[in-house]
Amino acid sequence: MNITIINGPNLNLLGTREPGIYGHEDFESVLKHLRQSYPNDTITYFQSNHEGDIIDHLQKVGFGDCDGIILNAGAYTHTSLAIADCIAAINTPVVEVHISNVHAREEIRHRSMISKVCKGVILGFGTDVYRLAIESFRKQ
Ligand code: DQA
Repeated sequence: MNITIINGPNLNLLGTREPGIYGHEDFESVLKHLRQSYPNDTITYFQSNHEGDIIDHLQKVGFGDCDGIILNAGAYTHTSLAIADCIAAINTPVVEVHISNVHAREEIRHRSMISKVCKGVILGFGTDVYRLAIESFRKQ
């Protein structure tokens, strides 16, 4: 399978950013373990702090031979109608993930603009949410 992981703003700081919430592991390490666990799959990775760049990348991979997109849109999850519109427009299914349990946090994080246009949502299991999202695509 061809899987694309897209991480949004501040997720480049994983490992040092609020480790009590997001853990101590950086994303390069998460990615390395995923690629070791799924050697027959191609897992590509893109991270940006910019809403438009995330949309450009969703459009770039969303009409081609990518089987599934795993999107952690970070804080844009709660605000971005533009990312929701993009997910609705592309062909490739998107699974929304969050490392933390957003429903156990501030109320503003309880609303997702993108959930309704995603195939499913996985949240609250730490960085294991990326592996669980890959499993969801493999089982379809
Ligand atoms: C997050 C949760 C968001 O509310 C937050 O803005 C993030 C990370 C998560 O993975 O738990 O940046 O998406």
